[in-house]
Amino acid sequence: MTENIVPHNHTIKRSDRINKLGYHPILIWFVGLSGSGKSTLASGLETRLFNEGINTYILDGDNIRSGLNKDLDFSDASRKENLRRITEVSNLFVDAGTVVLTAFITPFEEERQKVKELMGKDYIEIFVNCPLEECEKRDVKGLYQKAREGKIKNFTGIDSPFEEPKNADIVIPSHELSIDEGVQKIYDIVIKKIKDNE
Ligand code: ADX
Repeated sequence: MTENIVPHNHTIKRSDRINKLGYHPILIWFVGLSGSGKSTLASGLETRLFNEGINTYILDGDNIRSGLNKDLDFSDASRKENLRRITEVSNLFVDAGTVVLTAFITPFEEERQKVKELMGKDYIEIFVNCPLEECEKRDVKGLYQKAREGKIKNFTGIDSPFEEPKNADIVIPSHELSIDEGVQKIYDIVIKKIKDNE
């Protein structure tokens, strides 16, 4: 379908935006079960970066699944399409000069691999590694209970798979660290990449 799409060669390039900003926008992708702490960590990290004058934006279920992706459910195919669109939107945001933090379960390795390939060095994957039992105990949104009662189908970790990331750049055992400790661990690594593209 892209056969007759011929890109216009715009004058202002990604490199011009990077020069103007004085830092490298990247995509910080949080992976983990529902209730593992992805949004909490993303929020804490965003605050640290934002307070240093870095342009940031969080993409999560609240702003994506209620708008752009409100036509998608939780079947495997819909999750893949959900993540494909998020990947493309994130890439545009990064290109425009924003550090993007995403908080989606991202249960399949194939989708994680695709975003990694698209973003290249402008990408960090963070696995928020919290055991299912702990997420279920927290049950912040009451969804695990509904899933156990069969009121929600295809719930990740219950009757829909979660393929654990094997190659994440950072792993945060959120059941063993405080929020501040988790945020600090991520911050120390991402700030180098944003400032020096290391
Ligand atoms: S993903 O699999 O496509 O990456 P996503 O992160 O967008 O999932 O949405 C997961 C959030 O939607 C969960 O944190 C939870 O609040 C809610 N949710 C509702 N139904 C389900 C379900 N069947 N499986 C997982 N999460 C669900």
